[in-house]
Amino acid sequence: MAAIPEIHDFLLCETPKTWIDAALENQAVMLIDHANCEKKAAATAMNLLYRYIDRPALLHKLSRLAREELRHFEQVLAIMQKRGIDYVHVSPSRYASSLREGARSHEPAKLVDTLICGALIEARSCERFAKLAPFLDAELKKFYQSLLKSEARHFQDYLKLARQYAGEPIDDRIAFFAAKERVLVESDDPEFRFHSGAYVPVAAKSDLELTSSSGKRRSSM
Ligand SMILES: [Fe+2]
Ligand SMILES: [Fe+2]
Repeated sequence: MAAIPEIHDFLLCETPKTWIDAALENQAVMLIDHANCEKKAAATAMNLLYRYIDRPALLHKLSRLAREELRHFEQVLAIMQKRGIDYVHVSPSRYASSLREGARSHEPAKLVDTLICGALIEARSCERFAKLAPFLDAELKKFYQSLLKSEARHFQDYLKLARQYAGEPIDDRIAFFAAKERVLVESDDPEFRFHSGAYVPVAAKSDLELTSSSGKRRSSM
């Protein structure tokens, strides 16, 4: 985190230790959900490419970003394959959908809010990669450290685009979403995912968590 002070300044809190512990204990779920997050990050950028064809800076930045996210997706898949982790269905966390709930519906406010949420999601991913890396095996550590740079750039790209298209100061909107993000990160969450909150295991829930949709028990490594 010290290497990325702008991320530290932007986010209102650090990832809680309970999440780090859960991630280390559930590395298969972490990698599967990480793969899903990379795929979703590419899809979100692609959606914006379709919706805002009249915004050249957005088209340029987010086309590149989508390609990078798909490359990350391929890299996570390769690590999963190497480790014998099946790509089973893992439901999305509450994080991204809850974060975007407060987005305005008129333009360009809708675009600006979507871009601010994008910046927060990228910043949190970056913070989590940095925080997890020291505890991971050599291969995963190297991979997560390699992702820091691009996720930090994605954070900057989203933030710059938000400022560019707002046409007015956006500090209050950033503060609004950053406060929501903090609650999602610090509040109890019985479900472990890449962007889940403070992990609080619930006995019945953790059994469910380890059972895939096919009824097969999922490896938790
Ligand atoms: Fe990524
Ligand atoms: Fe990213």
